[in-house]
Amino acid sequence: MQKNRNIHVENYVRPEIIAMNGYVPGEQPKAGQQQYVKLNTNENPYRSSEKVYDAIAQTAALGLSRYPDPTATAVRAAVAKKFNIDPDSVLCGNGSDDLLTILTRTFVGNGELLRLPYPTYVLYRSLAEIQGATSELVPFNNDWTLPDTFFDVASKLRLVFLPNPNSPSGTVIPKLRILEIAERLPCPLVVDEAYADFAEEHCIDLVEKCNKIIVCRTLSKSYALAGLRFGYLVASPKWVEQMMKVKDSYNCDSLAIAAATAAIGDDDWLAENRAKILATRTRLTEQMRRLGFDVPTSHANFTWNTRKDRLLKPIYEYLKIHGILVRYMDYPQWGEGLRISVGAEEQTNQCLNLIEKFL
Ligand SMILES: Cc1ncc(COP(=O)(O)O)c(C=O)c1O
Repeated sequence: MQKNRNIHVENYVRPEIIAMNGYVPGEQPKAGQQQYVKLNTNENPYRSSEKVYDAIAQTAALGLSRYPDPTATAVRAAVAKKFNIDPDSVLCGNGSDDLLTILTRTFVGNGELLRLPYPTYVLYRSLAEIQGATSELVPFNNDWTLPDTFFDVASKLRLVFLPNPNSPSGTVIPKLRILEIAERLPCPLVVDEAYADFAEEHCIDLVEKCNKIIVCRTLSKSYALAGLRFGYLVASPKWVEQMMKVKDSYNCDSLAIAAATAAIGDDDWLAENRAKILATRTRLTEQMRRLGFDVPTSHANFTWNTRKDRLLKPIYEYLKIHGILVRYMDYPQWGEGLRISVGAEEQTNQCLNLIEKFL
């Protein structure tokens, strides 16, 4: 065993990989550890549609000895029906992180450039690093709008990521501005709509208008299926054809395909869940503002809470000791904040009461 640990990785592993830190996801307490109220990774606090569990049971009953459908045809058809689009414009992934990886691998080569706003979802930078590419960070303006430099033409620029709503802010860039950005950019623009079901508008119909726009979705948040791992993207069929060559042959398993098809078909569940989350989000925002935090209006299932009069890490630590996990983030040159996921009513109350007590 000891011998196994004596490898000089520098002699074998690509230097880009040695140099990188690797993406660290939010804390996920393991079974057997202390049970927390989890408000740290923007999961949905409610149970997903029962149709999902029925679909999984029916598929499992048929057995799992065969490989799954490599292109998840049933999900592509469900997405096409929902948005009235061509199924050939849909690509499915093992969570949207898988799709973000496929996108980066398809478009961005060694030594090339990937652009992101800042601060934003930290994984994008790791994906660029794995490719040996550079990421260019364009800071948001103080009001979370984007400067025109976001669509500057730059040599070697191959791909731009724009999460909308953004994480950690929960803010949105209006659809018309996104179209303007895409039209001016010299490369594809990935609009990462992980949280769009909690917002007022989305960009899936823009894909038809501007073939540089690629929209990425996940079932982890609004469908309460983070444990399932399923996402899809919508793009010109020409792009999808190329990305099909990059993805793992069977990147979505049979149970996930059945479950995702059932989830996407249950619009009533989605609408009801969204209404609950939005009501709690309004209360969370109002209460955090009352407690003295600056909270930009959120269009996602979390809020971004900052304040200048005291440090925020002790609040995170106090909540953790009392069984509540939120996400503490400190972005260099930007500042720190607490990102709090919208929980069930009771969980959110618990969190608010503890913060009030701490202050
Ligand atoms: C902006 C953004 N995109 C993508 C993801 C990843 O979602 P998934 O669970 O589908 O991999 C997250 C997860 O937190 C996210 O915040």
